[in-house]
Amino acid sequence: MKRIAIFASGTGSNAEKILAYFKDSADIKIALIVSNKPDAGVLQIANRHKVPTLVIEREAFFKGDGYVPQLEAHQIDWIILAGFLWKIPTTLLKGWEKRIINIHPALLPKYGGKGMYGNAVHTAVIQAGETSSGITIHFVDEHYDHGAIIFQATCSVFPTDTPEALATRIHALEHKHFPRVIEQVITT
Ligand code: GAR
Repeated sequence: MKRIAIFASGTGSNAEKILAYFKDSADIKIALIVSNKPDAGVLQIANRHKVPTLVIEREAFFKGDGYVPQLEAHQIDWIILAGFLWKIPTTLLKGWEKRIINIHPALLPKYGGKGMYGNAVHTAVIQAGETSSGITIHFVDEHYDHGAIIFQATCSVFPTDTPEALATRIHALEHKHFPRVIEQVITT
């Protein structure tokens, strides 16, 4: 049984899909939900699913032990970033080498990097006049939105699209693919 920690800063719709997908899994257990925001929706989702939560603070995350002892106490094997805003510090990259996966709401290497989160990404894609966008699932390294790509899927961008309309299409792609890709990577 592999134990996963999901890191999320926001609503947590991806976290919820992952929780539902692995609910009865014999191979994968969502053991912890981590958030940098005490009022993040993802924490309520965790409570509903009776999954332990951990709210982290900037100073300890970046300059302290990176919450490694807490992650070890929960025997975390893999870390999944599902809409997590902060960069991952070296302490975690070393402790969970090649075992941290991120989802990004665009086709990397385009529209990634610092500040490229949620609707900021979709606004940039629309303003650039792109006719397609998509999702990227990738391993995390020391740079924002940069590690080896595991999976991509695409969708159309229409001239009439608002960032919210595109976000809805992108979320549907994420919900469809992310749990399955996580399962494939972890169990093969
Ligand atoms: C997702 O679309 C995810 O791809 C994005 O945040 C959203 C979180 O939604 N992540 C990034 O932008 C990372 N750079 P959710 O809270 O509903 O799962």
